[in-house]
Amino acid sequence: MNDIVDVRENAARFYEKALKPVSDGACCGASAAKPIAIAAGYETDDLKNVPADATGNSFGCGNPLAFAGVRAGDTVLDLGSGAGLDLIIAAQKTGLTGRVIGIDVSEVMLARARTNAEQAGLSNIELRQGAIENLPVESGSVDWVISNCVINLSPEKWRVFREIHRVLKPGGRMLVSDIVADGLPDWILSNPDMHSACVSGALPAQIYLDAIRDSGLADVTVVDRLVYDDSALRVLVSEALPVSLDSLACSAGKPVEDIVGAVVAAVSGRVQSLRIAARRPG
Ligand SMILES: C[S@@+](CC[C@H](N)C(=O)[O-])C[C@H]1O[C@@H](n2cnc3c(N)ncnc32)[C@H](O)[C@@H]1O
Repeated sequence: MNDIVDVRENAARFYEKALKPVSDGACCGASAAKPIAIAAGYETDDLKNVPADATGNSFGCGNPLAFAGVRAGDTVLDLGSGAGLDLIIAAQKTGLTGRVIGIDVSEVMLARARTNAEQAGLSNIELRQGAIENLPVESGSVDWVISNCVINLSPEKWRVFREIHRVLKPGGRMLVSDIVADGLPDWILSNPDMHSACVSGALPAQIYLDAIRDSGLADVTVVDRLVYDDSALRVLVSEALPVSLDSLACSAGKPVEDIVGAVVAAVSGRVQSLRIAARRPG
């Protein structure tokens, strides 16, 4: 396996491990949403008719569809769709005259999203296995590309943006929520779990925005920005993500709690989530 495939597979396994066991599926609604979805910017209204399993297994860093002008009949493509939260919200907006396609490299995630879509009673969601760097999607076929906290994981971000440009219809729009970072220390950058946790693969904001423009997309705009405070970072590092800090703790000869503090201090103020809009000219 080469490095690029390794990174993709590591990310897939990392989030499969983070999935909570399938619930009995009886309950829907925001009351079951875990704080990560609410902290990421979803309103209770967004989550009202969404199965608890989809909100509880959301690993996003924003709400790409917030204030989006998705209309009935539109086609929406979600890159790295995970357990399906954004697919379900999008499918409720497009209605049965539209459709939503989710792409994920992980079969486990695709199966979970399929179950959640069925649970939500939505028949206009299609799941396809594939890599976001080489989308199994026809050129010029979608009105919207959305993505939530996935592109930072790709070692080939420039390819991903070129693919987004290719699959959008002329005039079609991209809305992504993603992590950008700057000035991270080497011990964070070289830790593979920190890459899978959406930290060390993140580009500085300016480079990320330039990569989008280089793909040919236009009107690139940062529409929202979320800077994590230290208490949110502490929850993400120590509870919300399956980051393995044991090896770091062992090699440093320190307790895991000290390592959590060191990670939070190292990334504090250096990591933020942006919601970015762009458009394919034409
Ligand atoms: C951080 S999770 C985000 C999932 C979802 N967007 C959400 O908001 O909950 C990253 C997801 O992207 C998938 N993924 C990671 N790298 C990928 C790639 N290169 N191509 C396709 N899917 C990928 C993972 O399997 C995982 O489901």
